Amino acid sequence: MKVIKTIRETREVVYTARRAGKTVGLVPTMGALHEGHGQLIERARAESGLLIVSIFVNPLQFGPGEDYSRYPRTLEADLDFCKARDVDVVFNPEPSELYPDQQKTFVEVEEIPSELCGRSRPGHFRGVATVVLKLFNIVLPDRAYFGEKDAQQLRVIEQMALDLNVPVEIVPVGTVREADGLAISSRNRYLTPDQRRTAPILYQALNAAYQALCSGEREVAKVLAASEAVLAEEPAVRKEYLEVVDARLMTPVTTVDGPVRIAGAVWIEKTRLIDNLYWKEKR
Ligand code: PAJ
Repeated sequence: MKVIKTIRETREVVYTARRAGKTVGLVPTMGALHEGHGQLIERARAESGLLIVSIFVNPLQFGPGEDYSRYPRTLEADLDFCKARDVDVVFNPEPSELYPDQQKTFVEVEEIPSELCGRSRPGHFRGVATVVLKLFNIVLPDRAYFGEKDAQQLRVIEQMALDLNVPVEIVPVGTVREADGLAISSRNRYLTPDQRRTAPILYQALNAAYQALCSGEREVAKVLAASEAVLAEEPAVRKEYLEVVDARLMTPVTTVDGPVRIAGAVWIEKTRLIDNLYWKEKR
């Protein structure tokens, strides 16, 4: 496995692989790798000739006062994690390699980032879309893999690739959970053991809404009341949002008449957790 810090060297490796007829797969990450990332990597490994995992904590997608400086950085463990999964290249640039000058060009997707996480994190999805397009332009992957855990991010990237004719196939990968339902996340390591025990309440709340939809409820206010009741059981968990959104636009609906995502974000003290469930009528 190669660990590469520069854009130039990454381009060379990709060029050589392409000349040998290999397809190129990219899994963009911010490191602190866990089984959620592992699922993306395994899927990508099975479908790629050359598999590149990028590890880059992207300053552009963190707002002032967010956790950029304390975001977990575990490079040695991440490299072992990638090696064990037969990754060919880890692209791990310094911020100065991706942002040598002040960035003056940004990718702004409209509408999709306006609600949910976009509300409390202005500029976040602009930072995500911009760095992901930069990574696409550096690696020129045939396929790139993203988790449904971050469903709004996935939709932003799909839309960006579509609208800007980026020649990449975006492959969505389902959310990987702990046995008790908690979606695996790099931020889970901020939780104390007590907080960790209460954390699955978010998944349980989303599930209550999911069950309400399955039993025929179509009025979102009533669907969400089921979730709210679950969350209310845990006063230590502060709701940021709980919504039922159109699965493509990621904007709230009042009545469910097509595919939706039930999406939530909560705070347990200083730790922010997000999760979502896809729901579609069974025919
Ligand atoms: P990061 O949070 O490291 O996540 C990298 C990828 O792993 C994302 O596509 C995310 O959706 C996926 N992922 C995380 N937890 C998952 C889980 N439990 N199940 C399935 N997939 C999971 O998301 C980012 O980094 C950044 O915003 C990035 C796209 C790399 C741009 O900087």
